Amino acid sequence: MEQKIYKIFIMGPQGSGKGTQAELLSEKLDIPAFSMGQLLRDEISTGSPLGEQIASIINPGNLVPNTIAAAVLKIRLEKPDLKRGYILDGFPRDRSQYEAFTFDKPTHVIVIDVPKEESLRRLGGRLVCNICWKTTNKETGVKIGDHCPCGGKYIERDDDKPEAILRRLEIYERETKEIIEIYEKEGIVFFVAGLGTSSEVHDRIIKIFH
Ligand code: AP5
Ligand code: MG
Repeated sequence: MEQKIYKIFIMGPQGSGKGTQAELLSEKLDIPAFSMGQLLRDEISTGSPLGEQIASIINPGNLVPNTIAAAVLKIRLEKPDLKRGYILDGFPRDRSQYEAFTFDKPTHVIVIDVPKEESLRRLGGRLVCNICWKTTNKETGVKIGDHCPCGGKYIERDDDKPEAILRRLEIYERETKEIIEIYEKEGIVFFVAGLGTSSEVHDRIIKIFH
């Protein structure tokens, strides 16, 4: 039997759990998940001049220029591990990106929604591993500097400062919501309530694929 190829975009405000749910869905559907933000942070980790340029844009909470985002994404989508489908979190974020995305098409757009207060609360407590970038939260008892199972250490993200979080949320309201409306007209959008535990949200998402 031919296996269906899923190309799933996860959208939603900052801290809605896009990255968290992308990972859980990746395990469930056995296809890779990756985020635009992480692709850009990977470039920063190389210490290249492009990485330095990206850091100076991302850290205060702004979007990198469309040319950089689309170029980085195109390179990732050409890798052979995505032949059986993929889950992408964080693209497109504005109309210019939607229009520039001519090299593939999503089969599903999942929109996770949470109120602004919840975004701020979650991002204020987020910690990420400095090696594997696994995400956790101080609410689970993990502290800055604790070891991740991979051997890395938990740190705060440079853009999880209150002003940067507010700027990112503002961009979502102003630019990204419009793109969701466009995908809605294409009939491929599934809205999911993001409050509740990660596993409760995951259960809501997998119902879409039954
Ligand atoms: P990106 O890394 O994508 O950040 P973001 O969009 O701001 O979203 P977040 O990663 O902050 O939130 P999330 O929804 O993934 O939440 P998470 O699962 O971590 O992008 C960063 C930057 O890169 C952008 O600001 C921009 O500069 C640049 N960029 C990215 N894409 C771009 C593009 N297309 N074009 C241009 N520039 C781009 O969860 C958050 C926290 O909550 C965690 O601590 C988690 O443990 C916890 N949590 C998750 N689910 C739950 C739950 N159900 N209950 C309680 N806690 C939970
Ligand atoms: Mg994320």
